[in-house]
Formats: sequence, C-alpha cells, structure tokens
Amino acid sequence: TCPLFQGIPSEGISWMSHGDYMAQVPSGFSLTAHTKMCPNAAIADVQRGFYGVQYHPEVNHTEYGMEMIRNFLYSVCHANGDWTMHDFCQSAIAAIRKKVGSGKVLLALSGGVDSSVAAALLAEAVGNQLTCVFVDHGLLRLHEGDEVEAAFSKWNLHFRRVNAETRFLGKLAGVEEPEQKRKIVGEEFIRVFEEEAKKIGAVDFLAQGTIYPDVIESGTGEAATIKSHHNVGGLPDHMKLSLIEPLRELFKDEVRQVAKELGLPDTIVWRQPFPGPGLAIRVLGEVTRERLDILRAADSIVQEELRNSGWYRKVWQGFAVLLPLRTVGVMGDGRTYEHVIALRIVDSVDAMTADWSRLPTDLIAKISGRIINEVNGVNRVVYDVSSKPPSTIEWE
Ligand code: XMP
Repeated sequence: TCPLFQGIPSEGISWMSHGDYMAQVPSGFSLTAHTKMCPNAAIADVQRGFYGVQYHPEVNHTEYGMEMIRNFLYSVCHANGDWTMHDFCQSAIAAIRKKVGSGKVLLALSGGVDSSVAAALLAEAVGNQLTCVFVDHGLLRLHEGDEVEAAFSKWNLHFRRVNAETRFLGKLAGVEEPEQKRKIVGEEFIRVFEEEAKKIGAVDFLAQGTIYPDVIESGTGEAATIKSHHNVGGLPDHMKLSLIEPLRELFKDEVRQVAKELGLPDTIVWRQPFPGPGLAIRVLGEVTRERLDILRAADSIVQEELRNSGWYRKVWQGFAVLLPLRTVGVMGDGRTYEHVIALRIVDSVDAMTADWSRLPTDLIAKISGRIINEVNGVNRVVYDVSSKPPSTIEWE
C-alpha cells in the first residue's frame, strides 16, 4: 500500500547488499518491504513524506526499480518532469557565455565522455575562445587519439594534440611498480599540460568535466588511498585560473544525453570509463612500446566483439590486460613460449563495487580464439573471475 509501490506486484527482485542491516525501524516509520533474509528492506513515514529503501532501485537488475523512482518523483514529490537535456544545454551555453565574456578558456581533453562533453558545450558557447589540449601519452587504445581528434573537427575551436609518447615511455622505462607508474604518468601529464598552457599565453579559465558523482566523492573527506587516481584536477595553484565546470550537476547518463544533443559520435558517447594512466596500468610489469602494441591489438578484439554482440553497453567495463609472464603452448608441431592476456569484464553501478560479468561462454571462446590467432606473441587467454572487493577493477 506504500505510495512508492503503486502499480507494482507485491513481490519482485531487487538488488541489495545483505551486509547492511537495519535492526530497528525508527519511530514514526512503518515497515514497507522485506526479503527472506532481511526483515527491514524499506520504510516509510507517509505523513512526513519520508521514504527509505535499503536496496538499489536505480540498478537495472532491480525489476521494478524504475517504477519505484517514477512513483517517488511524480506521486510523492509531485515533480513536473520538465527537466530536459535540451533545456539544460541551452541554459548551460548561456551561462558559459555570460561567465567567459571575451576571455580565453583552456580545457584538458582526455577523450573520455565527461571531458569531451564539457569541451563540446564550451565549443558551442564560445567557439574559438576555447583551446582543447589533448595529451596523447602513447598509452591510449587503438585509434583512440584519431577518433577524439576527428570528433572535434566540426567545431571552430583550437585543438592541440600533443604527441608525447616518446616522453612518457622514456619516463616509464624500467618501472614496474604500479603506484610509481601512476605517479609518473600523472606528473608528466601536468608538466606537458603546463607547457602547452604557456605556449597559448594569457588564459583566464580552466574548464573541467567534473560530474556530480565526482563532487560527492571529493566531499567525503579522507579515504584510504587504494590507488592514486590521476585526473587533471591536480593542476598547480600558481596557474591561477578560474574554474568552469558545466557538468557539475549531472549524472553519467545525463552527460551522455547532453553528448547526443550536441552531436558527439557514439564512439565517444558510449565510451566505457578509462583510467587516466591509460594502458600503463594494463601492461603489468614494464611498459614498452612493443608490449603496449600487443595489448592494443588484443584489446581492440575485445572491444570489437563486445560491440558486435551487444554486450558493450551492458557491462560497466571490458578490457584486456597483458600479464608479466609467458607460458608454454603448442602451434602446429612446434612449442611456443609467449604472453598471456587476461580478460577483465565487469558489471558495476558506480565502480565502488563490481562483479565479473557472466558473458556467454561462446562469446568468451570467440574473443579468446581471435586473440590467440590474430595477435602475434600471445598463446593464452584467461578470464578474470574476481569481484571488487577484495580485487579491484584494474589489475594495478
Ligand atoms: P579500480 O581499479 O580502483 O577502478 O577498481 C575503479 C574505476 O576507476 C577507474 N580508474 C581510474 N580512473 N583515473 C581515473 O580517472 C585513474 O587513475 C583510475 N584508475 C582506475 C577504473 O577504470 C574503474 O572504472
């Protein structure tokens, strides 16, 4: 009878972490849902308009999650439903124009969805007052740099692609320790970016693709450093630029709608998350051009097969990892002693927790077969079946 569950069957599947447990319903609230294992899965105080659910109505696997959110928005909060991404774009563009005036804006473009959409909004708003700096550190996936460059050719903006592969690989030579790799790439990135900024001259604003989850996460105070995440946020203070963050209030799916609205290609709109240190943390052990090329070739097969089978958008991330070891195989009459590729394909809601994707075995077989047949130097493929925690999504 709870307003949240109007028009929904009395039983259904919802995703919930059973590690959490509410022992007692607070006063004023009544219990509105339970599971076999958990007596208190949802509560409500209809009078005060307070609703609490312990499960995740927002994940796809929750059968009636969308209906519950819809009920909450329209029946409980009486929302009008007039927030559209078209309106958002129009008002964001107007706000950027007002703020920037005749100033110059600098943006570090990574090619990921967030920075690309921020760039596209700024391009619409202030065109050639914007300079996008795209640092190609040589740790990108196959053809990624060209795709990003092509996507921005429709706008009249200054696009600077810095080909810094030699520089990054030089710094990474001989380094095997993951945290050290992350620090090197992060620091070098800032240095290259600063140098480019100097070449451009007087700049007034720095634009960033910060989205709402980033805002929340950075507000939670001290958390253990599991891995140092490198984003362009860490620019030195002395650059003294005023920040423009047009996506601060948006969630990822809204950012994607904005991207579509602005006409960015699907390859960017639907791009899976990609770590700042790039393939440096997916080539385990030493990072060399040769090992990066092996990984790129294997990874492009993973991307292609996930896309062709329709799984690319269903999983959170799917990629290849090059392991720092070689194993024995047999090819024709001969013995081989070659590299191993691991497939890391995960489901997740927010990357805080994740589980390995139950891909159809035929698809795994196809990916594995293609990698071993088509990528020189690889004679074995393994599938990672660990969840986060205790593992992480990336291997380093
Ligand atoms: P982990 O490996 O910590 O990754 O489970 C969680 C999510 O974050 C991505 N990731 C990064 N993203 N800079 C980023 O912007 C980074 O340094 C970085 N390291 C990991 C990872 O791909 C996954 O989506």
